[in-house]
Amino acid sequence: MNPDSAKIVEVGARDGLQNERVPLSVKQKVEFINLLSKTGLTSIEAGSFVSPKWVPQMASSSEVLATINRQDKTTYSALTPNIKGLEQAIAAKADEVAIFTGASETFVRKNINCTIEESIERFIPLISMAKEHNLKVRGYVSCVMGCPYEGAISFKQVIDTTQRLIDIGCYEVSLGDTIGVGTAHKVKELITETTQQIDVNKLAVHFHDTYGQALANIYASLELGIRTIDASVAGLGGCPYAKGASGNVATEDVIYMLHGLGLNTGVDLDKLIDAGRYICEELNRPNGSKVALARPLK
Ligand code: HMG
Ligand code: MG
Repeated sequence: MNPDSAKIVEVGARDGLQNERVPLSVKQKVEFINLLSKTGLTSIEAGSFVSPKWVPQMASSSEVLATINRQDKTTYSALTPNIKGLEQAIAAKADEVAIFTGASETFVRKNINCTIEESIERFIPLISMAKEHNLKVRGYVSCVMGCPYEGAISFKQVIDTTQRLIDIGCYEVSLGDTIGVGTAHKVKELITETTQQIDVNKLAVHFHDTYGQALANIYASLELGIRTIDASVAGLGGCPYAKGASGNVATEDVIYMLHGLGLNTGVDLDKLIDAGRYICEELNRPNGSKVALARPLK
């Protein structure tokens, strides 16, 4: 990857909305994703194919993916915890899918109702089927900086799980600080240890901003060569199985920092701010992006 550029994986329409209490219509979600698509973002997580009983907000993902205006340069992906989810993602013509597990047994049990090992076994046939359909598979490891149930998580557990996901065929693994407890020095230690055995270009970072540390943690990750960053416009987000997990880092704030550091993203900040303002109005919630608040309304 070009060292002068960085890639954003926009997770606002998935991580951002999965935990929202206000139910959004398909029309509102489609309008939101269409606005995101106009910003120059090349990777948009558009939904997830999980049990609607577990995560009702994502129940309309098929209709959403079928209705959005897709941009040629943009990849529209979806979360798939099992084959059933993958079948729906294929039918909805997702461009890419993401599987998700974690570095904490208790979290994985609460989130996807199995052990870490069972999740990996479940993903092996899922990945073969995805590849038969020419779909790339991304992986997530949650709780890399700590778990809401178990507390501290060892780096070994994070690295072993990440390695397993790469070994079974994920092209990239996103390291999730699900509850936003990480701090920059610890992030540096984890990435330094991880990149002793895994190519840095196969890693992404996914920081929730619960403790206000996300930008510092992203900066620390950039210093070690990470160039793929997950973020959520307006700082939307949270995980239903991680109580107290607030939003992801706001994409607008990450873009502002990256551009300030001289890293090209291809994203138009003004258009991104417009997308963030739209969704906050629809959800009737305050905007979690400092940059959006700092910029005067047009
Ligand atoms: P389970 O109950 O063990 O599954 O749930 P099951 O296979 O026994 O099936 C139970 C029922 O669910 C059945 O329906 C299945 O058909 C249905 P019933 O017969 O009772 O009517 N079902 C499905 N329905 C739709 N789509 C599917 C599907 N699979 C089964 N794919 C399961 C296991 C994984 C399905 C469940 O635990 C689940 O859906 N969990 C949701 C997890 C989730 O979405 N969490 C949030 C995303 S992860 C996250 O936010 C973290 C991340 O952002 C990174 C970070 O921040 O760290 C990625
Ligand atoms: Mg998340």
